[in-house]
Amino acid sequence: MDKQIILGTGLNGLVGSKFVSDFADHYQFDNLDLRDSQRPVDITNQEQVDRVIAQSKAKFLIHFAAFTNVTAAFEQKEDKKGLCYQVNVEGTRNIALACQKFNKQLIHISTAYVFDGQKETLYTEEDLLSPIEWYGQTKAWAEEIVQATDNLTWTILRIDQPFRSDPFPKLDVAWKLIKGMRAGKIHPQFSDHFFGPSYIDDFAKVLDAVIRLKLTGLFHATSGEQWTDFAFAQALSQKLKIDYQVEAGSLAKYLKTSQRPYQKNTALSVEKLKSVLDFDLKSINSAISEIRA
Ligand SMILES: NC(=O)c1ccc[n+]([C@@H]2O[C@H](COP(=O)([O-])OP(=O)(O)OC[C@H]3O[C@@H](n4cnc5c(N)ncnc54)[C@H](OP(=O)(O)O)[C@@H]3O)[C@@H](O)[C@H]2O)c1
Repeated sequence: MDKQIILGTGLNGLVGSKFVSDFADHYQFDNLDLRDSQRPVDITNQEQVDRVIAQSKAKFLIHFAAFTNVTAAFEQKEDKKGLCYQVNVEGTRNIALACQKFNKQLIHISTAYVFDGQKETLYTEEDLLSPIEWYGQTKAWAEEIVQATDNLTWTILRIDQPFRSDPFPKLDVAWKLIKGMRAGKIHPQFSDHFFGPSYIDDFAKVLDAVIRLKLTGLFHATSGEQWTDFAFAQALSQKLKIDYQVEAGSLAKYLKTSQRPYQKNTALSVEKLKSVLDFDLKSINSAISEIRA
């Protein structure tokens, strides 16, 4: 049987490439890729986007592509001509409009950085957008564009600090710590900063479920757990048997020396997602045990 065609942006990135490798047997992927030598597509160019999407038989488009360097984004604050705004906001607008015109369901990947991090408990899908830095602001605008596009069938999935079982050229939060600890040096890890690690191998299964079950609407798609940087680094060193004594650090102290705002807590509740999924999400402890380090 022919494999279902899935259109995607950012399928070469940290998160998208895992979905492609894990589900290569199920789907045929068509990447709108800036660096494709045959058919380069810049998502900030509406004509290029429209041309490819118009010709595709795919029913779904997964939009991973983004300007993801949060520190570099901070340097572009308020600059709507800057790459961060152009890719995250205008690029998403082009993708949403093309999906509307050519009748594709848009699965848009977003981030917990749309929140200010002041909430002490897990953020839910009901919580209002409250970004505090430029990357989060551009991703929040992107979400608003997706939701406001008339006659568009959409799914928004928010993740936080994603990590995968295998290493990728752009190191994720887990692999940065693993490589650092193995090399004998990581910074003290904040014990007053909370996040919701997302296991990318599991997130790939969530994407498959969104397609299979035709899920629509806004979902948080992390592990649903809340960790400190310190506890996460300790769990990695213990489970992967890395001989390293992790030191505790303080975000509150660090913020006194940093210009860039940081969200104190970006952990997300996944109760809504769990109520519609047909498989169980892995705990972060089980996910860490699967890391091939
Ligand atoms: N990584 C995180 O910590 C994190 C956390 C929360 C949410 N997210 C979200 O998850 C999604 C995937 O993130 P990621 O870390 O996998 O991203 P990534 O590794 O930085 O990859 C970004 C992808 O976007 C593509 N891209 C950038 N500008 C483009 C343009 N103008 N036209 C076409 N493609 C373009 C890049 O293409 P090239 O390879 O050709 O450059 C690359 O494939 C993003 O939406 C991000 O906001 C990520």
